[in-house]
Amino acid sequence: MEKRAVSPLEKHRLTYRPKRPQIFEDLTSLVADPVETIRSNRDIQALFPKTSEQPIVRFKSGASKSHAPLRVAVVLSGGQAAGGHNVISGLFDALKNLHPNARLFGFLSGPSGIIENRYIELNQELIADFRNTGGFDLIGAGRTKIETPEQLKQSLNHCKSLNLDGLVVVGGDDSNTNAAILAEYFLANECHTHVIGVPKTIDGDLKNAHIETSFGFDTACKIYSEMIGNLCRDALSAKKYYHFVKLMGRSASHITLECALQTHPNLALLGEEIEFKNLTLKEIVLLITDLIVERARLGKNYGVILIPEGLIEFIPSIKLLIQELNVLIPQGLDGILEKLSPQARQTYEYLPQEIEQQLMLKRDPHGNVKVSQIQTDQLLIYLVRSELKKRENYTGTFNPVGHFFGYEGRCGYPSNFDANYCYSLGFTAASLIHSGYTGYMGVMQKLTEPPEQWEAAGIPITMMLDFEKRRGQLKPVITKALVDLKCDPFRVFSEHRERWALEDCYRFPGPIQFEGPAHLCDASTFTLKLEQHLNVTV
Ligand code: FBP
Repeated sequence: MEKRAVSPLEKHRLTYRPKRPQIFEDLTSLVADPVETIRSNRDIQALFPKTSEQPIVRFKSGASKSHAPLRVAVVLSGGQAAGGHNVISGLFDALKNLHPNARLFGFLSGPSGIIENRYIELNQELIADFRNTGGFDLIGAGRTKIETPEQLKQSLNHCKSLNLDGLVVVGGDDSNTNAAILAEYFLANECHTHVIGVPKTIDGDLKNAHIETSFGFDTACKIYSEMIGNLCRDALSAKKYYHFVKLMGRSASHITLECALQTHPNLALLGEEIEFKNLTLKEIVLLITDLIVERARLGKNYGVILIPEGLIEFIPSIKLLIQELNVLIPQGLDGILEKLSPQARQTYEYLPQEIEQQLMLKRDPHGNVKVSQIQTDQLLIYLVRSELKKRENYTGTFNPVGHFFGYEGRCGYPSNFDANYCYSLGFTAASLIHSGYTGYMGVMQKLTEPPEQWEAAGIPITMMLDFEKRRGQLKPVITKALVDLKCDPFRVFSEHRERWALEDCYRFPGPIQFEGPAHLCDASTFTLKLEQHLNVTV
């Protein structure tokens, strides 16, 4: 078979040595220090009797000790996010640092690989071709959820037959919840495999007091911001198009907010604000139309509008429709419209046919609407166009172009931030397994400091669990962090947006930089800096 061509940049990135905290220089001397136990609520404790009363642990250097070689497997769960390969290479290097005979396996194609016992052994040579590259193609990923008693048993048998000391689950909120379930099940069934989660998702919604950000968010925002900046320049040059850009991110609008701070579009809608203000779809359409009319009055028939992909889930009337459909779709599509409440049916019938069909698509294995498949940009273009026709005083021209920036942001070369962060997360996961912890998420803290000063910790996953209705049933899940309208990123955005609407204050971030001064290539997102109350000029 012809050998795949390797680009000069790829060749160069393969040799990049990620930066990591100083304490990771010698893992054999690392000790986990229990710092605090935060009690889960009673119902969570009842579901997780063995793993819910564990302390938060922080790592520090101690005396060097010799260790037996560990056997660990890794699985990539859910959507791709830049940096997954670095979690694997960090994990591999850390295990080898602990003992040269340690072994790392990769379950193939996501959690289904555990259920079906499909795996490969990962060695130096194989990993060398994937260091600092984007995507999950080294072992693949998938969205299968391990939930039935049979799947749990199969997973346990396969971890036992591989004699695994540890299983690292790289995933978002749902996958880490699954990791907690596996950890509890393994302990209850005398399986010595320690289960550790790693916070991944471009959506940026897996964060809380302990997790500062999920990996992949930084790279995805930088890639989208480059492209949005290019569209802003295009709008400004040709002065004839309105670019409606739908951005990935599922429910939360973190990506849209970060891209807005980076590029200063004429309008950025945020789902969380729309829900807070209780805006209807019609009101959103009027908001956009008013902006277009006002800009036309200033002689500007162009602009850039950002739309989070989860927007429609936040519009109260559509939210109600989706909630009803989520319960009805699993029962079958026959006669489904008759089963909707009159209010939901009215909303359904107001929508263009393509959107109606997209709302009926099968949910993902966790019961989520596939918002990436719903053309919200086209929906808004369609509705704004008809609203503009009603405006007698409008004499401008409206040439909209719809875009969806989604999948292209998940597999780019990880930014230096994500490359360093993920590599360090791999070290943290190895250290947690080695210290005998299970049901934990490995995290890095102080992320706005240089990587050498980052701190590593382990957080019990059960501490982050709460109950949510999924397909009509209450299930334990890690609560998604939505955009907080009281937080600094939103405050800064709202202080500037009025000016960005009419004046053309576009900002052009350009492509991700890998070489050069730290402020160009190692900087984290505005969101992270603002959340940590740093002074930033947007
Ligand atoms: P995760 O939550 O699994 O990280 O996935 C995030 C995401 O990229 C969302 O932003 C998007 O809505 C969804 O995955 C798309 O899913 P799919 O890859 O199944 O089309």
